[in-house]
Amino acid sequence: MAKKRKILVLHGPNLNLLGKREPEIYGRLTLAQIDRKIQALAAELGVEVEARQSNSEGELVDWIQQAPGEFGALILNAGAYTHSSIALRDALTAAGIPAVEVHLSNIYKREEFRKRSLIAEAVVGQITGFGVNSYLLGLRAAVAAFKGKLT
Ligand code: DQA
Repeated sequence: MAKKRKILVLHGPNLNLLGKREPEIYGRLTLAQIDRKIQALAAELGVEVEARQSNSEGELVDWIQQAPGEFGALILNAGAYTHSSIALRDALTAAGIPAVEVHLSNIYKREEFRKRSLIAEAVVGQITGFGVNSYLLGLRAAVAAFKGKLT
């Protein structure tokens, strides 16, 4: 049961460039710095978090498929795949564990094509526009979700 307190955080394409990628939109923190903040909050909340990043849609699908064996919930920033990937949506639906969609920027305040999330209907909820706090709020939401408070 202790195992299921683990939460998987997945960062999608181009998020490895954080820190130098459009800092006016995505902030100045690197992905490693964001992961450290997530780990600090996880320790406070008494959960274990594993964070991974991939630029590959297929690898993200594989990780989501495997997640139920090891993790109680997942947090996903799918990057641009948010707006294009039926494969990620199907993987989330199949996985059946609570998932929280997060975005650093507010996807509804940007270009038209970012306003549609194909994964939104496959997650418990979405947190968008709070920079690194989107992940931290997402972690709190994921913990609540797997404790059965949300789903
Ligand atoms: C993003 C928003 C997406 O539209 C974009 O393609 C990203 C990052 C965000 O965190 O704000 O890569 O998911």
